[in-house]
Amino acid sequence: LNISIIGAGKVGKALAIKFKSAGHQIHQVFSRKLDHAKALAELTDSEPTNDIHSIKNNADIYFLAVKDDAILELATSLNINQKIIVHCSGATALSIFEGIHKNYGVFYPLQTFSPDIEPDFSELPICIAANNFETEEILTKLAKTICPNIYQINEGQRKNLHIAAVFANNFSNYLYTIAEDICIRSEIDFKILLPLIKQTVRKIESSKPSEVQTGPAIREDHGTIQKHLESLKKEAPEYLDLYQLMTNMIIQSKNK
Ligand SMILES: NC(=O)c1ccc[n+]([C@@H]2O[C@H](COP(=O)([O-])OP(=O)(O)OC[C@H]3O[C@@H](n4cnc5c(N)ncnc54)[C@H](OP(=O)(O)O)[C@@H]3O)[C@@H](O)[C@H]2O)c1
Repeated sequence: LNISIIGAGKVGKALAIKFKSAGHQIHQVFSRKLDHAKALAELTDSEPTNDIHSIKNNADIYFLAVKDDAILELATSLNINQKIIVHCSGATALSIFEGIHKNYGVFYPLQTFSPDIEPDFSELPICIAANNFETEEILTKLAKTICPNIYQINEGQRKNLHIAAVFANNFSNYLYTIAEDICIRSEIDFKILLPLIKQTVRKIESSKPSEVQTGPAIREDHGTIQKHLESLKKEAPEYLDLYQLMTNMIIQSKNK
């Protein structure tokens, strides 16, 4: 297929490179910053632009891989003559395109993307939705050329999946950030925690997370919890409320 990529950020870059390597043609790449568009265009043998109005209507599919808040504005600026347009956002409704375009969808890769880490498309799920059957079929076929794990997900499911992903990834990573900060304050290398983190992930490959919870909260080891609270109060008071809240929630989860 002939694909134009609007947005040369993390997701736009990863998808453009993967589509190109799967044999599709990347037609144009748009970014507000011409340098960004040029860098990705060079990698994918395509035409860079920083003018949304110079996006031509002769591609088959247009990928809006931009900040969620910019999707509507850019979708409105594109004149693509009934071609397919998709966004990649877990949190944005399919209906954002309603009344603007005729054939549209969502192409949501459920993964965390970083500029310099190549995503493993053989593992990550891609969630597809579309406003008509033909568009859904084309998007599904396209997705299958880069990845074996394709899911048809409805609007309610995708909204909740995105919330679940925020807990599973964004919040857990923030908790690692707190752990890193606490280690640094005691001149400990954060990497000492990596085997613990890896083992936690390994365990939930074969068990439910709710079944493998460990630590002072699930044991209701109140003496230890109290010592941690006193220590945090003195040394890192900004984390006290969060420690208390999570401890209470873990204890309550035992009675569910
Ligand atoms: N990151 C993830 O792990 C992930 C995972 C799944 C889905 N997604 C979804 O993928 C989409 C892109 O996310 P990303 O992580 O690739 O974001 P990103 O790396 O921050 O890139 C965002 C892109 O949006 C462009 N942009 C921002 N504001 C704009 C505006 N007002 N007008 C035009 N372009 C604008 C930026 O353009 P400039 O270069 O011109 O500044 C940049 O190219 C989002 O819908 C996000 O929800 C992200």
